[in-house]
Amino acid sequence: MIDSFGRNIDYMRISITDRCNLRCRYCMPDGVEWLPMADILSYEEIGRVCRAAARLGIRHLKITGGEPLVRKGCPELIGSLKTIPGIEAVTITTNGILLEQHLDRLKLAGVDGINVSLDTLDRRQFADLTGFDRLDQVLSGIRRAVDAGFKVKVNAVSLKLDRDGDGSYGWERLAGLAREYPLDVRFIEMMPIGYGKQFETVDHQKLLEQMRQVFPDMEMDTAKHGFGPAVYYRVPGFQGSLGLISAIHGKFCGQCNRVRLTSTGYLKTCLCYEDGVDLRPVLRGADTGAEDGPDGGGQELCRVMEQTIYGKPGAHCFEEPERITEGHNMS
Ligand code: GTP
Ligand code: 5AD
Ligand code: SF4
Repeated sequence: MIDSFGRNIDYMRISITDRCNLRCRYCMPDGVEWLPMADILSYEEIGRVCRAAARLGIRHLKITGGEPLVRKGCPELIGSLKTIPGIEAVTITTNGILLEQHLDRLKLAGVDGINVSLDTLDRRQFADLTGFDRLDQVLSGIRRAVDAGFKVKVNAVSLKLDRDGDGSYGWERLAGLAREYPLDVRFIEMMPIGYGKQFETVDHQKLLEQMRQVFPDMEMDTAKHGFGPAVYYRVPGFQGSLGLISAIHGKFCGQCNRVRLTSTGYLKTCLCYEDGVDLRPVLRGADTGAEDGPDGGGQELCRVMEQTIYGKPGAHCFEEPERITEGHNMS
């Protein structure tokens, strides 16, 4: 559907759990408390929201968390969402820890793409950043996913870290994954959301200059790689592409195509603000049951979602931190 700024909103990110098996310092440090399961949408409820969303023109679904693979039955949920009329692609973004053991079921479910969050290839720094010494497990999941023929993207948040122990940022090592394997490596500017506020992002205009120096024959890649905001580049000799997601120094809100559903059923229209609507009363309210009908995706749900999506804010306000109302993480 078209929002009040004329943007076509056809992508919904769905957080299926607030839980995670890592403790990335910029996202979910130690001490974060889990929500009670009763507050989390059931898969049946998520299905109803997705059917309503599909009726409103949502075509692509992204399954996220927390870490989505820690929730039981995640691959089967993906399989069932793929059967919804109007839904063209369902992809997942995972930290990769449980990826290898879920690959067969993700294949069966027909997932259309797997994004793996991986910010460093240095084992010590991975452990320091995430709280767990599991880099090998993530790398093994990535290799197996590529071997099994999945479309894989690596997400690396551009943190200012002493990744290589010499004070340098170390993006080149991560970029090397796209040379070694047919996958895309995307660098992501750190956004001042939740704990991310405590970190400084790498300026992607500067990173792009460095990339051009290291890979002088690099060219913009105009092929479609997904449904998100990344800008891609091809490097001769690389099997995959390099991408930049630059929410700060390359603001893409004018082309934003998405809304997000939190694990508790809140439909959020922009990741910068708390704005949105709590769908749980509509999903769980006794008076809406009949209206929702046997196929879910009820009229009331559609009406509330449509009104909310129409009012999606025009842009984030990361440059004016006092206006940011979202206090939590990326979910
Ligand atoms: P695909 O390329 O289709 O897989 O989508 P994607 O890149 O949006 O998916 P992914 O979950 O891998 O998200 C990668 C990064 O995109 C996130 O870490 C965010 O930094 C950024 N991102 C995703 N959604 C939004 C959004 O609504 N607003 C902004 N500013 N950034 C977003
Ligand atoms: N800014 C940018 N990206 C973030 N992610 C988590 N928090 C932030 C942030 N503050 C990334 C994760 C994952 C993706 C879904 O979002 O690393 O790759
Ligand atoms: Fe978990 Fe991803 Fe957050 Fe890290 S960034 S704590 S992997 S949800």
